[in-house]
Amino acid sequence: SRRLTAPDLARRKAEGRRIVALTAASAQMAGIVDPHCDVVLVGDSLGMVAHGLDSTLPVTLEMMILHGQAVVRGTAHALVVVDMPFGSYEASREQAFASAARVLKETGAGAVKLEGGAHLAETVAFLTRRGIPVMGHVGLTPQAINTMGGFRVQGKAPDAGRLLLEDARAISEAGACAIVLEGIVEPVARAIAQAPEVTAPTIGIGASPSCDGQILVLEDMLGLSDRTPKFVKRFGALRGQVEAAVRAYAEDVQAGRFPEEAQTYGGS
Ligand code: KIV
Ligand code: NA
Repeated sequence: SRRLTAPDLARRKAEGRRIVALTAASAQMAGIVDPHCDVVLVGDSLGMVAHGLDSTLPVTLEMMILHGQAVVRGTAHALVVVDMPFGSYEASREQAFASAARVLKETGAGAVKLEGGAHLAETVAFLTRRGIPVMGHVGLTPQAINTMGGFRVQGKAPDAGRLLLEDARAISEAGACAIVLEGIVEPVARAIAQAPEVTAPTIGIGASPSCDGQILVLEDMLGLSDRTPKFVKRFGALRGQVEAAVRAYAEDVQAGRFPEEAQTYGGS
C-alpha cells in the first residue's frame, strides 16, 4: 500500500480512527515502527536523545536533514514529518520556506513540523499554499524553554486556556495538516481537541486522551531513557535488557567464552 500523505491525517480524523505517531531518528528503528504508525516524526528531541544536548536549541537543519534521510530510507508506510529546528523558520515566512524546502528536497519527507501558536499562523499558511504540508505544535514548546523558564505544563495560568485555544485555532485555520498538543492540562487539552473551530487533527503528548492521536518519543516509551516525564508510559524495559546483554558480552569476552566455534570462520 502507498505511503500516507499529510491529507490522510484529516481523513483519519473524519473516520474516527486514532492517529498513531512515534519519533524515530535512525533507519533501523524507523523500519521497526513504520508498519504500526501513521506518522513517524523525526523530532528535534533527537538532539537530546541521540546527541546528548541539554536542550533542542543547538540542533541544526543539517542534523535534521541527515536523520530525516535515514528515517525516510527506513520507512515505506508512514508519513515522515521532520521538525524544523530552532532558528530555521521563526524570522520570516521566507526563511521558513527556504528551510522547509531544503528538508523536503533533501530528505523526501512528506511534511515539516514547527513550534508556535498564532504568531506563526501566517508562516504555516505561506508554506502550505506553496506545497509544504505543515504540522503545528502548541502548548509546551521545548524550543521556547528560555522564555517559558523551563519545561512547564501549560494551561494553568488564568486565561491560558483561552490563549492556547486561540493558538490552536489560528494554526488550524492556517491549514496545518495536524497539530501536536504538548504538556497541556487535561481540561484545556480536551477543550482544544473538541473545539469545532480546531478542524486539524490533534496529536497529544502529555495532553489528555481526547486528542485525535498520540505521540511519544520512541526511546521514552521503549524504556531506554533513564528519566521520563509523568506523561510517558513505558511499553518496554529496553534499558535493562541492553545493560544485561552488554554485561553478558563483556563477561564472555573477559572469560574467553566468546567467540565460540559457532562464531568462528573455518570452525564448524
Ligand atoms: O521532538 C520531538 O520529539 C517532538 C515530539 C515530542 C512531539 O516534537
Ligand atoms: Na520537537
